[in-house]
Order: sequence, then structure tokens, then C-alpha cells
Amino acid sequence: MTEHGRHELTRSFPPHFTFGVASAAYQIEGGATEGGRGPSIWDTFSHTPGKVKGNETGDVACDHYHRFADDFALMERLGFRDYRLSLSWPRLFPNGKGQVHAAGVDFYDRLLDTMLEHGITPFVTLYHWDLPQALQDNGGWANRDTVYRFEEYAGEAFRRFGDRVKSWITHNEPWCTAVLGNLFGEHAPGLRDLKTTLEVAHHVLLSHGLAVREYRRQGQQGQIGITLNLNQVYAASESEEDRGAQVRADVFSNRWFLDPVLKGQYPEEMASWLGGFPAALKAEDLPIIAEKSDFLGINFYSYAVVKDNPGDKLLQVQHVTPHDRVTDMGWPIKGTALTDLMVRLRSDYQDIPLYVTENGAAYPDVLESGRVHDDERTAYVAEHLEACAEALRQGVDLRGYFLWTFLDNFEWAFGYEKRFGIVYTDYASQTRYPKDSALWYSELLAGFRDHVLQTVQR
Ligand code: FCB
Repeated sequence: MTEHGRHELTRSFPPHFTFGVASAAYQIEGGATEGGRGPSIWDTFSHTPGKVKGNETGDVACDHYHRFADDFALMERLGFRDYRLSLSWPRLFPNGKGQVHAAGVDFYDRLLDTMLEHGITPFVTLYHWDLPQALQDNGGWANRDTVYRFEEYAGEAFRRFGDRVKSWITHNEPWCTAVLGNLFGEHAPGLRDLKTTLEVAHHVLLSHGLAVREYRRQGQQGQIGITLNLNQVYAASESEEDRGAQVRADVFSNRWFLDPVLKGQYPEEMASWLGGFPAALKAEDLPIIAEKSDFLGINFYSYAVVKDNPGDKLLQVQHVTPHDRVTDMGWPIKGTALTDLMVRLRSDYQDIPLYVTENGAAYPDVLESGRVHDDERTAYVAEHLEACAEALRQGVDLRGYFLWTFLDNFEWAFGYEKRFGIVYTDYASQTRYPKDSALWYSELLAGFRDHVLQTVQR
């Protein structure tokens, strides 16, 4: 993007727009057994041979557990002032329940205080996939009891950290928790069962609603919402069959979660697809699931084009998405799909404030004399920021954008092979090298702040 283009882009966002970077506890912290942290389902899964590329684990990851002060200093130098992170539930409740663990509270107290000293504002996710193993041993999210354990954990987190944390996300990507973890078996706990998947999804959503209620009950002054991974789905043709495929794929990827949270109901199409709902999906839970959130977080990476395929067992859908532009994950790129998605959310759902809580791209980076020339990543981010600017022009109430991710880190089933960071992590020495994309983002944010200042002074 040219200097001029960047200049134009900074002028497209309202003065209070939040620009940040995002991460998650298990992907960066390491210190897996330190401070009395209990194991999570990701410790178990990653330590099971064959589950993660190269049998890598999050035992050390970016060693952020010991290096957070340096990491926040680097963030400050780069001018990143808003940071989405997650708390590790098993650091705070090593067995998933009972008394909150003092060493865990102390760790996050120090971490949050250090962030604030560096002028960085936290945006905290409670659940980014690291369920305490003890709860999984008891049935995990398929057991309704886990919902109440989450409610207690959330309540404790609000009480302990609510003075410093004013923005909360209950869950990160319930679709991934449910489907990748319990239907496709690609994420922890690695199951493949549709009924379990439906129960997990329902209980995760219920725990979201209960956490929002608890937040209100405590009279906390801040905002709380949920983050969904949403996928803009297009039909390959105008034919009735392909449009039917589009509806099914959209229900599966998006409305299964959007409708209960924002409308208090499951999509009707789901009942016919499933031949009815399992008993655990109690109708009386729906008003709790739909407890009013302050915002909706969207994680956006890619899009899909689908056509009808009666031969496909799950949804009778075939993906025919063009693969002319893809990231290192093989995910097709189309920034305008993000605009389409946000415009669609505004027309089909309440006009709820939106945040893009994740967006970014993996590329096979090469470190050369301390530099990484990752122009493709910069182009990807610029294209999606343009898409945000366009959504704003079309009247979408978009409040912020968090780039995934600050440091290269443990990319779940891909181990350390995929690099999403705008800062390069040399895992052997734990040295951090800002990539060109980090410098670009840093200048963009500085330009944005200058512009806001000038507008205020005028
Ligand atoms: C999202 C996850 C995040 C990261 C990115 C690439 O699904 O929320 O932790 O792995 O994908």
C-alpha cells in the first residue's frame, strides 16, 4: 500500500475506533506447570502423539509467562495500545472448580498491572479453548455442570480483575470448540460425535448467557460480549439447489450460533437437518443465551462459495471457493466478504456494535538479518481494513479491529509451523523481531492518532 493509501485509510475510521492486536493464553504463555497451573484439554491433546504437527505442545510456546514485561515494552514501542488476551482457566482453577488459586490471581494481577503501566488497554477473553482437564474428565462441555463451573470462574474473574478490565469476551469461537473439538476431532478433546457436538455448543452458549447475567448482577461497569468465527458464504449459482446449499452452509457456520445469541432461537432449518434436537438443548435456556450483550466480536479469515452436492453426508454441500489467492493455511482471500458479512449482520440481526476481534494471515516468513519482508501479510491486513472502512461507510456500527496476532505462536493442530504473527518469534532463543507488517501497522496507528488529534484541535 502506498503512503497515500495509508493516509487515506487512517481517515476512514472514527476517532474512538480501537486498533489492537490479539492473542490467547495457551498459544503464547508456556509455563504450563508453573504457579500451580492445572492441565487443560490442550495439554492432554498436544501431548498425545499424532494430534499436533511435529508433536509440538504449548509447554513453552513464546514463554510469555516469564517475558510478558518485555513483550508489553515492545508493544508500547510499536504503539499498540489495545490488546486482546485470554485468561487461562486452569491457572485460576487448576481443577476447574473450588477456591480460586492465589498464584494464578497473582500472575494475572502482575500481568495486567504491567500492561497498564505500558499504556496498553486489555480486552479479555475468558475461554479461548483451554478447558481444565478435570472438567473434561467429568464430561467436559457436554456435561451441563461445566456451565456452572464457567459461571463461577467468570464471576471470580470479574471480581478480581474488573477494576482494570473493562472489556470482556465470554467465549472465543464456540463453533471451533464444538465442531473442531467434538465432531472433526482436530482440536482438543479430539472427539467425533454429532450429539456431543450439539450439547457442547448449547452449553457453551448457555454459559455465555449466564456469564453476561453475572456481569450485570455484579454491577460491573464495562462491556461484555461473545466472539464468533463467521464465514461469509456465497452460492455458486442462482439455481435453487445451490441457494439451498448456501443456506445450509450458512446455518452450519454462522446461524447455529448467531440466532440463539441474538434472536433467542435456533434456526428452524437445524431441526430438520438433525431430525430434532437432543434433549440437552432445553428451550428454557434460550432466553438466557440471548441475554443482551454489549457487542458481538467477529473473527474473520476467509469465505466460502458452495454448491449443492447430494453426495455429501453432513450438509449436502460442496465447496467450490476459488483458490487463486490463498494464505499459507490455504484459506482463500477476499476482503469484500468481510464487508458483506457485516452489512448482512446489521440487516438480519439487531444493530449490535461489532468488533473484529481477529483477522490476519499466516505466511511462510523468512528471517533475514533481523528483518522479515512480509508484504503479503501487510496487503492482507490492508485489504481487510479497507473492508472495515467500507462497512463503516455503509453505516455498520464497527467499533474496533484486532489483528491476529502479535507474536508467532502455537497454532493449535499446526504446532509452530504456521506463522500468523506480525512479530517474528525465534523459538530457539525466544528473540522477537518485528516484521515489516508490524512496522506498517505501527505507522498506520501513529497516523491515525495524529489525524484524530488534528481533528480535535481544529
Ligand atoms: C482462530 C483462533 C486463534 C488462531 C486463529 C488463526 O480460529 O481463535 O486462536 O488460531 O484462528
